[in-house]
Parts: sequence; structure tokens; C-alpha cells
Amino acid sequence: MNFRTINPSDFDFIIDLALSEGIRYTRRDLTRILDYEPDGCFIAVENEKKLGIVSTIVFGKVGWIGNLFVAKSSRRHGAGTKLIKEALRYMQNKGVEYPKLYCYPHRITFYKRLGFLTEINVQVLNGHGRETQYENVEGLTEDSIDELIALDERLFGANRLKVLRRFYDEFKEYCFATRVDGRMVGYIMASGAEDEYELGPWICEPRYQDEFVEELLKAEMNRLTGKRIELSSPMHNTLVERVLKKCDLQQKGIAIRMGYGKRVPIGNIEGILGIGGLDRG
Ligand SMILES: CC(C)(COP(=O)(O)OP(=O)(O)OC[C@H]1O[C@@H](n2cnc3c(N)ncnc32)[C@H](O)[C@@H]1OP(=O)(O)O)[C@@H](O)C(=O)NCCC(=O)NCCS
Repeated sequence: MNFRTINPSDFDFIIDLALSEGIRYTRRDLTRILDYEPDGCFIAVENEKKLGIVSTIVFGKVGWIGNLFVAKSSRRHGAGTKLIKEALRYMQNKGVEYPKLYCYPHRITFYKRLGFLTEINVQVLNGHGRETQYENVEGLTEDSIDELIALDERLFGANRLKVLRRFYDEFKEYCFATRVDGRMVGYIMASGAEDEYELGPWICEPRYQDEFVEELLKAEMNRLTGKRIELSSPMHNTLVERVLKKCDLQQKGIAIRMGYGKRVPIGNIEGILGIGGLDRG
């Protein structure tokens, strides 16, 4: 079994592979994933047969593994294990000290065997955007990006410039922020295509959440009127639970954040209301 970096000639294989697990990727999505970490997305190949893939994204000392898929006919021969080891090797060479990933509950044993420990639980929710009134939330503008990245780094715990900049460039009409005395204290974004969007990141400083959590979500729900929405939200906040219910976002599953080697809290999880994609933290 060999590993090489993914290139666009692999996209048809990846689109079919992800679809067989119920995940719909477009070539545009895959281009974005490759652009984040072109040398850190791997495909396992044996005798010219493509077996499976994994992606990584490095944010300084923190790194995320995502998109681990092995073709059904090639499973239980060690490809998944080797892909994770390849991803870890890449991230460690890049200086990542805290490799993390999200996994489904039934995969916890697989990752524990590889040295990951469970950290937090996240609920995955579904719903539909709809017309809603909101206040004290503004559309994000180019001159606020640096401030947004600094706010995100304080709460997320690592600099996500490459993801947040890309989201703004591709999906600016879905980016909103809120301010207190002129200072940004929260923001929300969404990404997607046609009628399916993923909501997140969604972030707010804990002391301003009573005032702004609901308004930020309503601004995004309103912008996404008529579209199908998916959202992954850490399960730690009763205020968020209430707001999610109010907006008719229904839980469809759970994901678990796991960290490699040691349980290290990064950033301030209290400020993370919606994560920016299971493969991006
Ligand atoms: C999860 C996934 C990537 C694993 O891929 P895989 O190639 O089967 O992984 P491995 O072969 O390394 O390991 C799978 C299991 O087979 C076992 N195994 C590995 N080689 C084996 C062998 N020669 N004989 C018998 N069992 C073997 C492993 O011990 C492991 O068991 P565990 O899950 O109880 O720890 C694959 O099942 C998949 O693509 N699933 C759908 C997508 C998904 O769930 N992705 C992960 C999201 S969290």
C-alpha cells in the first residue's frame, strides 16, 4: 500500500466514496479542502487501485484530521489505520502538538486504539432557514476580517486565517458580526451550495451570549431562508440549546471530539457555539 497526495484526478473517486457514506461533495468543495492543506491530504493506493483518503488542516500547533474514508471493499485490511498514521506524521512534521478530530460514536474504539482520547461531545442538527427579524447584527465587511480572526483565535485557540478568509471570499453574504461599543464580540458564517448549507463557525464571547447568541443565529437563518441547514454545536450550553429549539433545529446525531495523546483544552470552548465543519474544528 502506498500513499500520495490527492490531486484533482482523484475527485471522481472521492465524490463516489463520500456519497456511499451519505456525504455530498462537489468538485468545488474538494478544491477548497485541497487548497487549505495541499501537501496534507492523502490517498492510499495499492496496485493502482484507490483504497481511501484522509485530509488534514494545520493551524499552527493545532491540527485537525478529517474526511477519513476507505472504500467498502477495501476495509479491515489496515488502510484506515495507515491513513491516520500518515496524517499524524504529516502534522507532526509541520509542528502540530495537538492533533484533533471529530468522530462518530461508533468509531471511538478505532481511534482509541490509535492513541486518541475523547474530549467533548457535539450535536449535529438539521433544519431549514426561514424569514426572521433580528437586531444588532451587521453584515461582515472586508475591513473587519483582521478583528474577526483575532476574536476567533482567542476563543478557538489557534489562528484560522486560511479558513475564515476563504469563507469570507466565497460566502461573504452569509457572514455576520456583532459589536459592543464598536468592538467585535461575536460572529457567524455559513458555507454551501444550491439549497444545502452548513452553518458555522458561530462564536460569541461568553459574557455577551445572553444578548447576541440568538440574534446571530436569527440573522443567518434569515439569510438562509428556504435552504436546508446543518449545524454542529458543542453540547455544553443551556442558552444555545434553548435557541436551537426555538429555531426548530433538530438533533440528528452526535459527534465526539478526540485529541491525540493527551487531553488538552484549547481556546475557550464556552465561546464556541457552532463549529466550522467537522474537519476544520
Ligand atoms: C473507519 C474506516 C475509515 C476504517 O477503515 P479500515 O480500512 O477498515 O480501517 P482498518 O482496517 O485500519 O481498521 C478497521 C478495523 O479492522 C481491524 N483490522 C485491521 N486489519 C485487520 C485484519 N487484517 N483482519 C481483521 N481485522 C482487521 C482493525 O483492528 C479495526 O478494528 P476496530 O475498528 O475495532 O479498531 C472505514 O470503516 C470507513 O471508511 N468508514 C466509513 C467512513 C467513516 O466512518 N469514517 C470515519 C469517520 S469518524
